[in-house]
Amino acid sequence: MSTSNVTTRGLLEMKQKGERIVALTCYDALFARLLDGAGVDILLVGDSLNQVLAGSSSTLSATLDQMIYHTTMVRRGSERAMVICDMPFLSYQVTPEDAVRNCGRAMKETGCQAVKIEGGQSMAATVRRLVEAGIPVMGHIGLTPQSVHALGGYRVQGREAETAERLRADAAALEAAGAFAVVLELIPAPLASQITTALTIPTIGIGAGPACDGQVLVLHDMLGLNDQFSAKFVKQYAALAEDVREATRLFSAEVREGRYPGPEHSFGK
Ligand code: KIV
Repeated sequence: MSTSNVTTRGLLEMKQKGERIVALTCYDALFARLLDGAGVDILLVGDSLNQVLAGSSSTLSATLDQMIYHTTMVRRGSERAMVICDMPFLSYQVTPEDAVRNCGRAMKETGCQAVKIEGGQSMAATVRRLVEAGIPVMGHIGLTPQSVHALGGYRVQGREAETAERLRADAAALEAAGAFAVVLELIPAPLASQITTALTIPTIGIGAGPACDGQVLVLHDMLGLNDQFSAKFVKQYAALAEDVREATRLFSAEVREGRYPGPEHSFGK
């Protein structure tokens, strides 16, 4: 793990050297400080916060103001990691001008280093405009959650020859348009491997197998804090939901039994 700040050029060099990139979603300053201190390379302020924190059933209703609010918090808590603002539904799809305005606003108001947008070939012209405006763009293809209704649900993408070919073309179009990295979500591992080999820019996988140049997970899934959600690709590295319940049961019992606060938690004068 390098101690210098993570940049787009640094991520490219990591791919060239075969060093894996570590990314996690992050939605606030407290977790940003913990993850940054633990050496995570990319803090992605994902619009998944609309589901994980806000309890919605999809990411679609997240707003630009909400993304800016959370990205500002994450920037405050981070020093080394690259902070990426995930652009919410309809903040970049309408016109490239709209995309430049909204992504530019996210960069200016939050201090993030890059934005992420969903879509492949259909978004290439927009990616090019953003890059020309000096805005680093991470692409996102495969299962793109903002298109969940168009895709017919949260399902593995690219299983058929035709859809796999489209994803290969999407990845190539994003690289040609100037994206500095691309998220591959929920696609078969062999396809992710082919795309990773074909691209010069790094791929960051989620449910896309081990060959990607980096991996990202939703933080609360990885920590076992969101036990409402489970998926084959998620590995839980802790069981914090149970820890929270247990600590809360203990606190409740001590309050009810008059054991908390004790003298050590009380002021004499
Ligand atoms: O919103 C999000 O958290 C994401 C990642 C899962 C890639 O887009």
